[in-house]
Amino acid sequence: MITVSSSPYPGQRPGTSGLRQRVSVFQQPHYLENFVQAIFNAVPSLAGATLVVGGDGRYHNRAAIARIAELAAGNGVARLLVGRGGLLSTPAASALIRQRGAAGGLILSASHNPGGPHGDFGIKFNGANGAPASEQTSAAIYAASTAISHYQLAEGEGFDLDQIGSSELAGMQIEVIDGVADYADLMARQFDFAAIGELLRSATFEFYFDAMHAITGPYAEEIFCRRLGASRSCLLNATPREDFGGGHPDPNLAHAGELLAAVNGAGEWALGAASDGDGDRNMVVGSGLFINPCDSLAIIAANAPLLAGLGGGLRGVARSMPTSRAVDRVAAAQGIRCYETPTGWKFFATLLDGGHINLCGEESFGTGADHLREKDGLWAVLCWLNIIAARQLSPQAIVEHHWATYGRDFFTRHDYEGLDSDAAAALLKRLEGSLAELAGSRLAGLAVESAEQFSYTDPVDGARSSGQGIRLCFADGSRAVVRLSGTGTSGATLRLYFDRHESDPARHCDDPQRALAAVIAASAEWLQLERSVGRSQPDVVT
Ligand code: G1P
Ligand code: ZN
Repeated sequence: MITVSSSPYPGQRPGTSGLRQRVSVFQQPHYLENFVQAIFNAVPSLAGATLVVGGDGRYHNRAAIARIAELAAGNGVARLLVGRGGLLSTPAASALIRQRGAAGGLILSASHNPGGPHGDFGIKFNGANGAPASEQTSAAIYAASTAISHYQLAEGEGFDLDQIGSSELAGMQIEVIDGVADYADLMARQFDFAAIGELLRSATFEFYFDAMHAITGPYAEEIFCRRLGASRSCLLNATPREDFGGGHPDPNLAHAGELLAAVNGAGEWALGAASDGDGDRNMVVGSGLFINPCDSLAIIAANAPLLAGLGGGLRGVARSMPTSRAVDRVAAAQGIRCYETPTGWKFFATLLDGGHINLCGEESFGTGADHLREKDGLWAVLCWLNIIAARQLSPQAIVEHHWATYGRDFFTRHDYEGLDSDAAAALLKRLEGSLAELAGSRLAGLAVESAEQFSYTDPVDGARSSGQGIRLCFADGSRAVVRLSGTGTSGATLRLYFDRHESDPARHCDDPQRALAAVIAASAEWLQLERSVGRSQPDVVT
């Protein structure tokens, strides 16, 4: 056993369950070691227990896993479960923690951020329920990271990450497992694989899945091709690469060009889907049809009786506050509760653990259910395939039928990236100071009904989270939400969210920007972004 002295470091942002930085930052001496030791210090239940480790395969994954194994052994972990090749998607890791009774897991990923030697790397800690560390655990890890004085390593012979089997490191058992099979088995229990297989093999239906050279490639191959019989040609970019092929593994309209070209070239009877770096996000599209994640959540909720994993009926649903209220309408029709939580999956996890909900989602391409405690990209894609197979309707027809039943919630998000952090913080402060006088006033002709900072009290553990985004509600029913991103790695990212319900199908229009023009103009008048952060147009519009 080696004890190495080191000093505290300001690496982790308080209140976050993980650490995300440039690869070069992680390569500094003691950096990764300090953070991982801080986790062992803050979570004593890991000693003598099982720990799951795996990542999305990005550059530095293998080196980090080798070091984490030495730290785990040095801290008395009894058994380390590692995905073959060091690979585990975020949802698969969550499932594994639960299935194997682990005390927690370390997931190595910077999600949808680019990878490679000049890209980002990250480590997040999930607890024994498989969910991202709670607020309390995150705070304890942060506190430990600022007070750390040494870390403990057990150096030994390296182990073969690519070979399934057991080995030992200083008394700790290391098991390299096939992370794909367990996850595929779990999916087979959630869906009607016979019906989906028939759909995928039919000559008239076209399906494309873009793994973006990230983690979901091997999972997609096992599930869609080997188990469901789809042709291998339905998979795009299915080989995981350390730099994601130089791309940006973020499934959105800007980054999944190859997928969109394939699906738009197909007929109406086609579905396209993509997942992000670590496999927890999903984007679903039809031919010439972008299915907004807020609508996707609502449509899955409305079709829940068709899905085996949800077939017992919905207990309740949840969405993050900035997500459109489309799912609220389905919940109201079914007489179940819809919870509104702050952004971030950990808030859903307590509701799932408490049995209050069994379906949840966020506007940021995250959808999930009770089968594990992360958002789950492939699960969402399988939901869509199952719904199409069961209803024998095209994605377009399913979406239109939904809007005809519930009305349409127009939604858009505008991101301003790489802002000066101080200027962004000052803007938020100014906005907060102006909330009291806003209610009852008019912005660009729209009457403001309420203006507030969103706070949340967890109905299960009573934990209170405040300052979770500013929300303006207007008299015409539209909303504007403003918050700063908590996941970026350079400068500040300002996110503006807009939504409005339209009940009259005759007034639906193809362009959400046009449908939301009034509330976008009202918020522009309020924010004065040109003056405060020197920007007039967003960098990304979703
Ligand atoms: C973003 C998304 C949020 C999601 C998180 C992790 O966080 O907006 O919904 O839970 O990534 O995938 P943000 O950068 O906005 O803090
Ligand atoms: Zn992700």
